[in-house]
Amino acid sequence: MARVVDWLAERIPLNGDHLRELTNEPVPNHMKRWWFCLGGTPAYLFVVQIVTGILLAIYYQPSSGTAYESVRYITEEVRFGWYFRSMHKWAATLMIAAVILHQMRVYFTGAYRRPREVNWMIGMCLLFCSLLLGFTGYSLVFEQLSYWGATVAGNISTSVPVVGELAKQFLLAGDTVNERTLPRFYILHAAILPTTLILLVAVHIVLIRLHGVTELKFEDEPADRPQHFRFFPDHFLTELTLGLALMIILSALATILPATIGPKADPLTTPEVIKPEWFFYVTFRWLKLFGPTTAVLSMGFIVCAMFVWPWIDRVLRRVTRVPEISVYIGIVSVFVIIGLTVYEAAVKH
Ligand code: HEM
Repeated sequence: MARVVDWLAERIPLNGDHLRELTNEPVPNHMKRWWFCLGGTPAYLFVVQIVTGILLAIYYQPSSGTAYESVRYITEEVRFGWYFRSMHKWAATLMIAAVILHQMRVYFTGAYRRPREVNWMIGMCLLFCSLLLGFTGYSLVFEQLSYWGATVAGNISTSVPVVGELAKQFLLAGDTVNERTLPRFYILHAAILPTTLILLVAVHIVLIRLHGVTELKFEDEPADRPQHFRFFPDHFLTELTLGLALMIILSALATILPATIGPKADPLTTPEVIKPEWFFYVTFRWLKLFGPTTAVLSMGFIVCAMFVWPWIDRVLRRVTRVPEISVYIGIVSVFVIIGLTVYEAAVKH
């Protein structure tokens, strides 16, 4: 046994001290409050997505002739198929909600400021990857709303200046949804986007490890007490508790409100009401309010501004001399986003 241990130690020269050094970064005290640790939540949920996604892929058949029937088979006939499909659907919903909440906490605490600008931009890419995963996943079911949702998305992309037509061709593999569209969505959903997300999360975490998380001070914390605590086991246990609570919530949601399946895609019948998933309600309402061209151009502008927000924020603070200017802008934006989302949810058209 000792010889095996020595053999391994020589090949993998990593001992307890190295591991402690790698994992035991000092964590600032504010991270004891769970809402500051929301970054771990999408990571957890993404792992659930990979595991349940692999299980679903065993039965799913990505072609327009077979996709709908295979999802019905998973939901109604495969043992525990309904449970894993529901876990996948709810974890997707919670993951996007968690990414948005995490981004909000980063935004409102100004944790994107120098020297963390690049990590904010990587975060923006993570947000888009998560949204695209949600969109392509929704389309894979090939029910009426999947089909018409993809058709609407294709039409909207033509409003993008210069590359609009190309973007539509790239997305739909043709002018309309056709038999090549679903395999394309599938390769995006099950290979390209998850791989991109894993790589981005890896860079995100490495940068967090190199910078450390932003130090925040609270008035109720005495200055003479230690300002940091250990990552392992203290912070690790906070993350573990969050993860376990999440698994219980997820399993309860999947059991109480399981994923259903609507009518099969029919290219000849436009449904009376076409709605995307809830996380696209805000953009959908924006489109209805301003028409495709203005909406796409203004959204493009907003997205670009969000990417370079750390620099815009710096200029705004210097020009206005209001240190909390980003907080006020953030509050207004959150109200607008919630308002448009509720508006879209409340009306039929
Ligand atoms: C899959 C998505 C994401 C994962 C897994 C993730 C993970 C994490 C984790 C674990 C942390 C450490 C602190 C914490 O728990 O809050 C963190 C911090 C950070 N994240 Fe994310 N994140 C994601 C998306 C985003 C997005 C969408 C943004 C913004 C656009 C963002 C920007 C940042 C920044 C700037 C920090 C540093 C915060 C600080 O210094 O206090 N992340 N992220």
